[in-house]
Amino acid sequence: MKTCGALLVLLCCCLAETQLRDTISDNDITHQGHYAAAQRTEDASTASTQQTCQPDIYTVLREMSALVVEQRVELRYTKTQMEAMESRLRASEMTVEEQREQLKQLKSVSEDQAVNLNLKGSQVEKLWREREERKVSFSASVQSSGGGHTGPFSAETTVIFRHVFTNIGNGYNASTGVFTAPVRGVYHFVLFLHGYGHQSGPVAASLRKNGDNVVSPYSRQTSGSMTPSNGASLLLEVGDVVYVNLWANAWFFDNINHHTTFSGHLLFPM
Ligand SMILES: *[C@@H]1O[C@H](CO)[C@@H](O)[C@H](O)[C@H]1NC(C)=O
Repeated sequence: MKTCGALLVLLCCCLAETQLRDTISDNDITHQGHYAAAQRTEDASTASTQQTCQPDIYTVLREMSALVVEQRVELRYTKTQMEAMESRLRASEMTVEEQREQLKQLKSVSEDQAVNLNLKGSQVEKLWREREERKVSFSASVQSSGGGHTGPFSAETTVIFRHVFTNIGNGYNASTGVFTAPVRGVYHFVLFLHGYGHQSGPVAASLRKNGDNVVSPYSRQTSGSMTPSNGASLLLEVGDVVYVNLWANAWFFDNINHHTTFSGHLLFPM
């Protein structure tokens, strides 16, 4: 651009000089007396101006036209570059849009994962609770100290197993002899009675669930000792009760050797 400006200045100078000389020659024309002489002088000076300026103008014009061509090329190059940049910009705009979309998807995925994690957390909590609830097991015998017969009574009587071996989950109540299911599940119960044959009635009891008879160990003999037993697995709802009822007119024996026992275990929750 600077070169172009310089060339323009040069061109203007040349034109101005020519004009100046033309003006002088016009003045000379008005002085008729000196016309011939002036005419000669003017012709000479115009010729000299044309000689010094005209080749310069051509040079300048040539250079300018070359410059114009050069700048046209440059312009075309710039245009191409701008187009390339524009298409690159468009491409990167598209990339940004794609990335925004991906980000949105990732966000929803991570939200899903957070939900899943929460779900897993609550599942773990549930499993942990179940694991803790699963720990239900009791075992007890009748006599804590001493020994002797229980029964016969004229009516059915709930047996209280006072000597507790284990009572995990506190389902068994040693004051009442009643087991209450803390969780829904399948439980296994076993009952052992003991007696020896010098008493009249049978050694017999019933395992009862909510008052219903389930299984009954039973034995009756006039000599020797006996340990009738029985057991059952039961599906219990929360709050169902299981206990042992001594039959009316029946009896059993226990002492610190713990011959007469009642046990129950949760096999699995349901
Ligand atoms: C056992 O049962 C009795 C009578 O229902 C009750 O007072 C007591 O609190 C129970 N014991 C336990 C440990 O639940």
